[in-house]
Amino acid sequence: MARPATEWVNVTGNISIIARESGEVWFHKNSGTDEAVDPFAAPMMGAGAPGSTVRLLDGAIHLGFAEIEKHRAQREPTLAAYIVALAGAYHTSVHTPRNLRRAASRFSELGRPEVAAYLEDRAREETGHDRLALKDLHALGVPAERLVGNFIPEGIKPLCRRFDELCVQDYPIDCIGYSYCLERIAALKQKSDIDKVRALCPDGIDATRFLRSHSCLGSEVTHVEETIAFVASLPANDRIRVVQETYKSALIMAQGYNGELLKPDAEILEELELALGEALPYRRDRHPAHDENHGIRNAASALA
Ligand SMILES: [Fe+2]
Ligand SMILES: [Fe+2]
Repeated sequence: MARPATEWVNVTGNISIIARESGEVWFHKNSGTDEAVDPFAAPMMGAGAPGSTVRLLDGAIHLGFAEIEKHRAQREPTLAAYIVALAGAYHTSVHTPRNLRRAASRFSELGRPEVAAYLEDRAREETGHDRLALKDLHALGVPAERLVGNFIPEGIKPLCRRFDELCVQDYPIDCIGYSYCLERIAALKQKSDIDKVRALCPDGIDATRFLRSHSCLGSEVTHVEETIAFVASLPANDRIRVVQETYKSALIMAQGYNGELLKPDAEILEELELALGEALPYRRDRHPAHDENHGIRNAASALA
């Protein structure tokens, strides 16, 4: 019988994530000694398995968000912050199909049709998601095209830049790590998160199309499962890069999230109204009951 897979990836200068197919995962502080003493000092070379690969990927997100979890500010969700999140959702979605197709065509050139096919599928599945965010903004009475044309949330800019850069690399495998990070965090959103947003919206208004689709209720769950299976099937060098990029993307996302959390609502409103050139069409005093949520799932409400 084959031994269960053990996979490991060094994600920071001195921390590696180690995961076993049986479910164990731990963070290993590199000892600085040679491979004879530390079996995880050399890069992994073996085959992957979904059970261990998913723990590497999620471990990378956990590490990336570790700092924000320590300093996380408590902040009431507001409609203004949700409008910012929708603008962010638009910007992180609008170029995704184009970017993924660029990466796919590069993998075709490189003689990796299986990676190209996976990326083409993803590009197809992500097509039109920017429109969901625009529809939600319209539903809230916000001139959506004007808003997204004039405004990219600060925390979203480095993410968009990162994805653009990753997809035009000579060997653009890292873009899978970026996508996994965003999709995995989205898929952790629960029905209760959607209900909280519904409570913010004016009565009878449905402005949760993007959120529903990018939550545990939507297609994001399947996207995440497919990506885990695909990454597990990749050679070790590719898996290492995907996990390392998942960590870097999580760091960027966590920083952006922190920035949004620390911003007072009045400042958010001012930014939005400056971009729109007019006041937002809703009352400012609506907010839902406070609800404690912990874990990386919190990032989802600020950065869709
Ligand atoms: Fe999407
Ligand atoms: Fe997706």
